[in-house]
Amino acid sequence: MAKHHQVLYRKYRPQSFEEIIGQEQVVRVLNNSLKQGRIAHAYLFSGPRGVGKTTIARLVAKSVNCEANNSTGKSLTSILKENPLASGVFEGKIPCNICESCSEFNAGSSFNLIEIDAASNRGIDEVRELRESIRFVPSRGKYKVYVIDECHQLTKDAFNALLKTLEEPPEHAIFILATTELDKVPATITSRTQQFDFRRPSGKDIKNKLVKICGMERINFEDGALETIALIAEGSMRDAESVLGRILAVADENITAEAIYKTLGLPKKEYIRDFFSCLASNEKGRALSLISEMTKEGYDTQYIVKILLRYFRNSMLLKTDMELETILLEEETQDDLNFLKSRLALFSNERLTNGIRMFLETRELLKKSPIPQLPLEMAVYELTNNQQPTTNN
Ligand SMILES: Nc1ncnc2c1ncn2[C@@H]1O[C@H](COP(=O)(O)OP(=O)(O)OP(=O)(O)O)[C@@H](O)[C@H]1O
Ligand SMILES: [Mg+2]
Ligand SMILES: [Zn+2]
Repeated sequence: MAKHHQVLYRKYRPQSFEEIIGQEQVVRVLNNSLKQGRIAHAYLFSGPRGVGKTTIARLVAKSVNCEANNSTGKSLTSILKENPLASGVFEGKIPCNICESCSEFNAGSSFNLIEIDAASNRGIDEVRELRESIRFVPSRGKYKVYVIDECHQLTKDAFNALLKTLEEPPEHAIFILATTELDKVPATITSRTQQFDFRRPSGKDIKNKLVKICGMERINFEDGALETIALIAEGSMRDAESVLGRILAVADENITAEAIYKTLGLPKKEYIRDFFSCLASNEKGRALSLISEMTKEGYDTQYIVKILLRYFRNSMLLKTDMELETILLEEETQDDLNFLKSRLALFSNERLTNGIRMFLETRELLKKSPIPQLPLEMAVYELTNNQQPTTNN
């Protein structure tokens, strides 16, 4: 299939707030203040990779310049006279995605969006340039919006230069700083900005967006297939979309769970369940031979550990209180939970917490072990040690 699938995450970058998933709190606050024209001059967006910081920064830039936005001073009638199609205005939708300014933003050609990537050269020149250019009012639209990505990577000098600008920004300037490492942003900056904390969207939310994308790409998929993608993305919408893109590049119009496992080198669910069952029933020998089989197949051990951690965590929660099942169902399938429940009696509380501790450690050890499967083997050894003796070791 065509290569362009690899840039799915650009193609499906949300153009309006309604398309954003998993950032309800951020969207609500921003949306309200934008509609009321209460606009801050400096925002700070923090949160993990690929969850919508840049996307929302661009939406803010588009919104404050949207001609349907009353805070721009234009009346609704004048907008409709210029563009009868601007019905979005009636619904109070901001950005309207119809007006000329919105169209420029959507085409990526607006001069009112200035994006600076602090990661590329630590921003010294850019910030200097910014201090020069910021005085000039925009030639059209109301605000120039400066988005500074990975702002924690700015040098001290750049930060100081920026600080001066943040202290007295001109009326027509808005800063949006974005960072994945909030603790590296100096307090002098955070205290001058309105801060928004971005979350990882849930697996369900991610899966739903993948479902929509497949619909628009006219791709059929097995339910479990998209679930797996959402799972390995660990809350990053961008990662989920780029994995989907990778799969689409090699798969045909039908995405099966099988195709995904194969492309990504993941073992089937049954394999990991089998392994988990061995741990539950202390079958050390069989658990070890499963590891050797999985290694021979070249399966991604990090993935195996990821699933095991979920199994152990979910078992711990279920053992604590069966009522938690309803909450777990937001992320897990009933089938998975039923499987875990069927093994629950075989675990003591202590073994479950030990398992979690062990596999968290395994996760780290896997990154540096000279023998790829060793950390997993060690976990098996410890977790099935000192339990009721089994016959074959
Ligand atoms: N909350 C979200 N809702 C819908 N799509 C999203 C969301 N977050 C990210 N995406 C998708 O992932 C892509 C990348 O998102 P974005 O660039 O906004 O992430 P980011 O938080 O800025 O990440 P980074 O820290 O790596 O810069 C978007 O183009 C979009 O397709
Ligand atoms: Mg970004
Ligand atoms: Zn508009």
